[in-house]
Amino acid sequence: MGKSRILITCAKGITPFLREELILLRFPVLSETIAGIATEGTIEDTLRLNLMLRTGHRVLFLLKEFAARDAEALYAAVLQIAWEEHIAADGYLCVTSSVDNPSIRDSRYANVKCKDAIVDRIKEKYGQRPDSGPDQDRSVVNLYWKDDRCSLYFDTSGEPLSRRGYRKIPLTAPMQETLAAAVILASGWNGNRNFINPMCGSGTLAIEAALIALNRAPGLLRNNYGFMHLKGFNESLWNDLRAQAKKEAKKTLDCRIIATDIRREAVEAAKKNAATAGVEHLIEFDVCDYSGTTVPDGGGIVILNPEYGERMGKIKELESVYKGIGDYFKQKCRGYKGYIFTGNLELAKKVGLRTKRRIQFFNGSIECRLLEYELYEGSRKNT
Ligand SMILES: C[S@@+](CC[C@H](N)C(=O)[O-])C[C@H]1O[C@@H](n2cnc3c(N)ncnc32)[C@H](O)[C@@H]1O
Repeated sequence: MGKSRILITCAKGITPFLREELILLRFPVLSETIAGIATEGTIEDTLRLNLMLRTGHRVLFLLKEFAARDAEALYAAVLQIAWEEHIAADGYLCVTSSVDNPSIRDSRYANVKCKDAIVDRIKEKYGQRPDSGPDQDRSVVNLYWKDDRCSLYFDTSGEPLSRRGYRKIPLTAPMQETLAAAVILASGWNGNRNFINPMCGSGTLAIEAALIALNRAPGLLRNNYGFMHLKGFNESLWNDLRAQAKKEAKKTLDCRIIATDIRREAVEAAKKNAATAGVEHLIEFDVCDYSGTTVPDGGGIVILNPEYGERMGKIKELESVYKGIGDYFKQKCRGYKGYIFTGNLELAKKVGLRTKRRIQFFNGSIECRLLEYELYEGSRKNT
């Protein structure tokens, strides 16, 4: 397969950070939507993208574009593609889709028609059809069908890249790994100064911070991707890319990363997750109220993701927490930049400090903001 369009999807609002990443990796930015960026390259390039990208969700490699008015036309067009060159007859296939066509009421029907055409084609060539189902841990084909235009992609990620593989212990309201990485990149933090994360929950922000500071490719943590299940997977290139990424990663930090939470089980989970990510020894964990979190000399960022009442906690009770965060910033965090990631702007007003920047994000369907506060040396209250 030669060069083709590569579409990288991401959570809504994350494209500015994904764009920066692509530019650093020297990929062209061809077009952008609110939740994705189109670039171009070969199927081999998708290996590098899957390995290196911190904020992308899925790396989709365009196989073919064609017109189809209805399900029968879709079946006929998909049957024309030489699937036997890409998917093993004894393999496993999952078809995902995004469909907006007047003849299709349920996108699952489009998935079935597409899947039928693929397996019928392979059976015709080899006398055996691959298994199929909803699991995305092997070959995944993605159909984008708008009006009568269809685009068929290989989903080279398979499982979304947000599933880095280190978050083994589920806690309530964790932040997606890709969102946490985008939030850190939005702050401009790059590992030169301290990273203080009270209310760390399952540790996602602190772990992503450690990976960024070490320049460690997030994809090193995973050993299964969609591209591995396509015929012609270039395993030696993959091994070379991994070896190169390992060589480029640092072993030690030039700053301190401190993560705390009031709940012991959260800190235990965060430690285990950090151990799975290979960064536990680099993060200083503690069980304490956010206001008791050590803020060492040297400056850096203090970043909190408090509950915001949408998914847990009650808004009234949270008002005093937000006010307390404002006091903590003023009294203990001078010389730092303060950040609050929240989905409740009314609660954010209780912080009582002027925001320097307000950056829009989405946590699932919830519109959120990363609020930045400049905590000047002189802004500390004398208490
Ligand atoms: C929304 S969760 C943070 C999720 C985290 N970003 C993650 O990815 O898992 C908020 C966390 O704040 C903690 N928390 C609530 N009140 C606290 C307090 N007063 N001091 C410290 N931590 C607190 C909770 O235990 C919870 O783990």
